Amino acid sequence: MKKRKFLKSLGAASTMLLIDPHEALSQNNVSPIIAKKTALVLGGRGFLGPSIVQSLLAHGYEVTLLNRNKTNTDLFSDLPLIVCDREKEGKSGLKSIDQKYRDTYWDIVVDTWQKSPKAVADFLDEFKEQIGHYQYTSSVSVYDTWDTKFNAETAPLNPLPSFPKTIAEEYRYAIRKTLAEEAIRARTDKYTIFRSHGMRDFRSANPKDIIDEPFWPIRFFRGGEILLPQVENHHIQMTDVRSMVDFMLHCAADNIFGEYNVACQPTPFKDYVSSLIHATKKPKKVYWIDGDFLIENGLIPYKIVPFWKPQPKGSYYFNVQKSIEAGFVHRPLVDMITDQINGYIHRYPKDDVLFGKQIDGTIKCYSADQEKAIIQKWKLKNNL
Ligand SMILES: NC(=O)c1ccc[n+]([C@@H]2O[C@H](COP(=O)([O-])OP(=O)(O)OC[C@H]3O[C@@H](n4cnc5c(N)ncnc54)[C@H](OP(=O)(O)O)[C@@H]3O)[C@@H](O)[C@H]2O)c1
Repeated sequence: MKKRKFLKSLGAASTMLLIDPHEALSQNNVSPIIAKKTALVLGGRGFLGPSIVQSLLAHGYEVTLLNRNKTNTDLFSDLPLIVCDREKEGKSGLKSIDQKYRDTYWDIVVDTWQKSPKAVADFLDEFKEQIGHYQYTSSVSVYDTWDTKFNAETAPLNPLPSFPKTIAEEYRYAIRKTLAEEAIRARTDKYTIFRSHGMRDFRSANPKDIIDEPFWPIRFFRGGEILLPQVENHHIQMTDVRSMVDFMLHCAADNIFGEYNVACQPTPFKDYVSSLIHATKKPKKVYWIDGDFLIENGLIPYKIVPFWKPQPKGSYYFNVQKSIEAGFVHRPLVDMITDQINGYIHRYPKDDVLFGKQIDGTIKCYSADQEKAIIQKWKLKNNL
């Protein structure tokens, strides 16, 4: 039953009894009617979704999922599921949803969608009258430029093509996210958009692909002699999924709307290293090696040495003040790193992921042999 209908019928009943509807809920001899809040999670069984679902359940929401029932079907198999393909053109997937769900009032809808922005628009066109609060996970990729440090939520967004008429129209990730945000703003005021930045969790976004395994936590977990880039003014930034999910629940509880950059504060790389050491009680020794020396030896920033991104210069400097003022708290990095290591060991109990050149020719960071060789060269150069 829709929330409005529910309150109306409660009001009618209490009028007949000549009591205030609120009192009707609190009469000693009447059991209080405490309706659980309803949540619809669009998706929910991938990387981010499961943490959202778990948190909603822990906060007492009645959770329903909507997806195609293809991904991780064993997850939350006891929850109600609306099987629906959002990629069907002409809203045909949405229109085939059972009437009972089309009439349901959802206190909160969480949308983790990253594909066609038209699918976001279609969903809202069909359901916006039945949603108390719509939450969307976006990304800092919506900002037009990353050249500026401390981009706040008011910074200019990507210039956009005209809005797609079909779901099949393809755009790059940043444009899809920006178009989806535009579609949301055009359709409802009761939204919260979370612009995350490099999400980290116990889970991996691509559990079957080593490309997504966390390099630095694994490297420190393994211990030994560790190479580190010595670079001036080196900062990093990322988003802990658990912290973001807590913030989503907080926004739901307090009706906090609008756009929010969600990440840890820009953090000195050395502080990140301290957290890695705390989380792992390792290494034997670290070698802070000059950045130019690393580049000369093939360890180029970012793709080969993660969390070293000198360009664009605002990459790890997004302004998160608005979120903090709204109540966002990023967990200590050491807790997040511990979760990442536990997740990795769960996926790879033999700790046998190898970095460096992959079988298919792609390169994921640098190998243990490369690291050893460069440390040796650095020692010789500096008479260490
Ligand atoms: N900033 C970052 O570092 C970062 C990193 C990773 C992800 N992200 C963002 O985080 C968000 C979370 O993504 P997630 O994959 O983890 O979300 P998720 O909700 O956990 O998983 C995606 C869900 O979408 C469903 N789905 C896929 N295609 C569908 C379709 N055609 N119709 C209906 N449902 C469909 C999947 O189920 P079925 O296959 O069963 O339909 C799955 O349950 C995304 O917006 C992504 O852009 C950000």
